[in-house]
Amino acid sequence: MNGTFTYSNPTRVHFGGDSLERLAGELANYGPVVMLSYGKASIKKSGLYDKVVAILTEAGKTIVEDPGVMPNPTVEKLREGARLARENKVDLILAVGGGSVCDYAKGVSVAAYCDADAWEKYYVRMEPVDNAIIPVGCVLTMAGTGSEMNGGSVITNHAAKRKIGRVFGDAVFPRFSILNPELTLTLPHYQMVAGCFDVMSHILEQYLSGTDDNTSDYIAEGLMRSLVHSSRIAAKNPLDYEARSNIMWTATWALNTLIAKGKTTDWMVHMMGQSVGAFTDATHGMTLAAVTLPYFHHILPYGLPKFARFAQVVWGVNPAGKSEEEVALAGLDAMRAWMQEIGLVLSLRELGTTPEMLDGIAEGTFLLRGGYKPDLTVEEVRGILEEAF
Ligand code: NZQ
Ligand code: ZN
Repeated sequence: MNGTFTYSNPTRVHFGGDSLERLAGELANYGPVVMLSYGKASIKKSGLYDKVVAILTEAGKTIVEDPGVMPNPTVEKLREGARLARENKVDLILAVGGGSVCDYAKGVSVAAYCDADAWEKYYVRMEPVDNAIIPVGCVLTMAGTGSEMNGGSVITNHAAKRKIGRVFGDAVFPRFSILNPELTLTLPHYQMVAGCFDVMSHILEQYLSGTDDNTSDYIAEGLMRSLVHSSRIAAKNPLDYEARSNIMWTATWALNTLIAKGKTTDWMVHMMGQSVGAFTDATHGMTLAAVTLPYFHHILPYGLPKFARFAQVVWGVNPAGKSEEEVALAGLDAMRAWMQEIGLVLSLRELGTTPEMLDGIAEGTFLLRGGYKPDLTVEEVRGILEEAF
């Protein structure tokens, strides 16, 4: 392991079937005004909304209602939430929902007291946060993004056709997160498997970089093996608590900064997926699923030993009698079979992408330089998108 790094993670996690009982204890650490941010309908349908409101009321909190956070939260919603939080002098933002609600809450946390336009300052120009931050807590209802234990916040600007992820520092990480796998059991199959693929992608974005012998890679392989195993079980029986519980914990560790230690990291699948999202508003995990295999085939010659290792350790490919390239390709075949088995989207067309969008999606893709093909060009991205179409 050759990197130099600092590791810390300030989020306190309460995990398990009765973890919502820990919310009252956490609330005692904050002032009286709590902004309750949530999505469109799921938490009211499942009864979680009533439970959370009862806990807040019992704790004597004043609730500032903030409903309607949409998947892929928009800049307009961010501005509305920031105004609401500022006007009500909110002491805590409690995000109850999936990654979109958690991401949005972090955005509001830094935007509420920002004198400039927070989208321009913190997402486009990526300036350091220099204003007061409102603490965030999460009650997670969907496994996938890792937002419950990281500083990530992805906001979409449809007018500008840009979906931008900002990774904020420790002060913006959720102060606490409640992870109860039971709360994920009501997810539609499409969202559940999209979440599983998001997890797989997060791990691979970090794994597919570097050539040193690195503990982070061994941890990543363990996480991927657990995910593949549990996602197969959950795809067949979504109510299998053990599988859903493993998926939830794997999702958290896939993107809470641990396995990025000592890695340069790739993240090009996410850059392409986010640009697809800016044009189509498609489900995040599915945008990643559509572009992953064409991208991997494109970069495979440059990271061959790692792809061959991935094939053997994660997919159990037997290398006997095969060249390194054949081993690596067999790994990608096994990955495709798994994606089909659990029900993932494998083409951009299925996500509402049209051929006219491809130029814009390619141009809107940020080119990052940490992976096995650091000199990737817009033209290559355009070609990968065409393959993915
Ligand atoms: O709005 P409601 O009614 O709650 O419905 C949501 C939404 O329609 C529904 N849902 C969530 N939990 C449910 C449920 N339905 C039934 N039962 C439940 N228990 O699922 C839909 C999708 O929810 P969303 O929060 O959008 O999904 P996800 O957790 O995948 O979050 C996606 C967002 O996170 C960003 C993505 O770009 C996207 O904007 N990401 C954040 C990252 C981070 N913070 O580090 C990294 C990721 O790579 C990702 O980019
Ligand atoms: Zn993701």
